[in-house]
Amino acid sequence: MGNTHDRTIPSDALVIFGVTGDLAHKMIFPALYAMSKRGTLNVPVVGVAASQLSLTELRKRVSESIWQAGKIDDQNALDHLLSLLRYVGGDYNNPGTFEALKQALDDTQHPAHYLAIPPKLFTTVIKGLGAAGLATQARIIVEKPFGRDLASAQALNRIALSVFAEDAIFRIDHYLGKEAIMNILYFRFANSFLEPIWNRNCVASVQITLAENFGVKGRGMFYESAGCLRDVIQNHLFQIVALLAMEPPAYQGFGAVHNEKAKIFQAMRPLQPDDVVRGQYTGYRDELGVAKDSDVETFCALRLFIDSWRWQGVPWYLRSGKCLAETAAEVLVELKPPPQRLFDDSAPADGRANYLRFRLSPNSAVALAARVKHAGKEFVGDQRELYLLDEQPEERTPYERLLGDAMLGDGALFTREDAVEAAWAVVAPVLGTHHPVIPYEPGSWGPKQADMLIAADGSWYNPILVKVAT
Ligand code: BG6
Repeated sequence: MGNTHDRTIPSDALVIFGVTGDLAHKMIFPALYAMSKRGTLNVPVVGVAASQLSLTELRKRVSESIWQAGKIDDQNALDHLLSLLRYVGGDYNNPGTFEALKQALDDTQHPAHYLAIPPKLFTTVIKGLGAAGLATQARIIVEKPFGRDLASAQALNRIALSVFAEDAIFRIDHYLGKEAIMNILYFRFANSFLEPIWNRNCVASVQITLAENFGVKGRGMFYESAGCLRDVIQNHLFQIVALLAMEPPAYQGFGAVHNEKAKIFQAMRPLQPDDVVRGQYTGYRDELGVAKDSDVETFCALRLFIDSWRWQGVPWYLRSGKCLAETAAEVLVELKPPPQRLFDDSAPADGRANYLRFRLSPNSAVALAARVKHAGKEFVGDQRELYLLDEQPEERTPYERLLGDAMLGDGALFTREDAVEAAWAVVAPVLGTHHPVIPYEPGSWGPKQADMLIAADGSWYNPILVKVAT
C-alpha cells in the first residue's frame, strides 16, 4: 500500500512531466490558461522534461500554445499563469532530476504530479518520485493508456499502489470530463420516465459511434503500438457503455457510481474474433512511423453483450475510426417496435423503431424519436424527433475540469483500478487473436463487413451534421 493521503487537502503545486510534449502543448496549457482566467490556478506549476530549457523558453512555448488554441483574451490571466511556471530539465532515470524537482517544489507539501509522458516512462517516474520522497502526501495523475493489456495494467497498478494510495491516483479518461457524457448519468437518473423502459424488455439494441474524419495526425508511431480498440474503445467507448448500462447507484456519491460501473465491465462478455471487424484506411501505411505491412486497425466495430439481469440478450454495437465521413460521436438506443402492427406503416417496416439519441460531439443534444400521424383520412405518419439541444458555451474543457478536480482530490471523474482491469479482461481475447484488417477508403464509413456485423439487428446510424453556412 502506498502513502496515506488526505483527500481533503488541495494540491499546493502542479508538476507536469512531459511539459515539452504534444499533450501539454495542445491540451494542458490551454486548460491552465482557462483555470487562470477563472481564478482557480494559484499554485506553482513545475514543468519537467528531458531538454534543458530556460524559464523564458518555457514561457514562450506556453504563450504560443495558448495562441494556437484560440486567442489570448485576458493578458492578466496569461501573465499570472506565466508567473507560476518553474522548470526542471533532466533524464527521468537520473535521481538528480528528482532532487532538482524537490528544490523547485521548495516548501510545497502536497504536489500533484501529472504524467503527460509516453506510457513506457510511467514506471520510471513513479519509482523516481517514491525514491525521492516526493510521493508523500502527493497525488499522481496518469494519462491514458493505462496499460496495453490486462497484465501490463495490473503491473502498472501494482507499481502505482506501491508508491501512492488508491485515492491519490487519478487515472484520466478525458471522456469522463465531457459535459455531454456527464449528462448521460444525469439524464438517466434525474428523470423517472426512462427507468421502466431502460432494459431488455423495451430496448432492442444500443449503438455508439465515435467517428473522426482525419487520420493519425503524425501519431503513427504511437498508433502502431495501440490501434483503435486500445486507443478509444477499451476506454472512452466502454466508459460510455458503463454509464448507459449501470444500475442506479445505491447512494448519492461517486463511490457508488464507481461500484456500479465496475459491475458492468465485470458483466461484459469477453469478445471473440467474430464479434470484431477491424479496418485500416488506405494510406495509413504511408504515414510516418507506420510499418509498410502494418496490421494495426484504424477502424474497429464490435458487438458486445452484457450478461446482466437488465441487459441479457441486448446487443451493444460500438464503432470508431479515423478518416471516416464525419467527426462526431453519438449514442443510439433503439427501442423494440410495438407488439402489434395496428398501422400499415408502423416501424420497423419503413425504418427505425423509436429511439433515444445522445449526440455527444461536436455539439451536445438529446433526441427522442416517436411516430406521429400525418393530417388526413389515412392512419399514416412518420417518425420525428423531440429535440433537446444543449449548447453551453461557457462549459469547461475536459482537461480544465479534470485537472482542477484532481488537484482538489475529487476522484469522481477518474477511472478506478478494478474497472480498468475488468475492461481489459473484456478485450483480452481479441488483442492478439483477430481477423486481419480490411482496407477502407478515407471518407467512407469503414469496411462493409461492419454493416454485416450489425445487419441482424438493423443498421448503423451515421451521425448527420447540420452544416452551418460560413
Ligand atoms: C484520444 C485518442 O484519447 O481521444 C485519439 O488517443 C482520439 O486518437 C481522441 O482522436 C478523441 O478525443 P476527442 O475529445 O477529440 O473526441
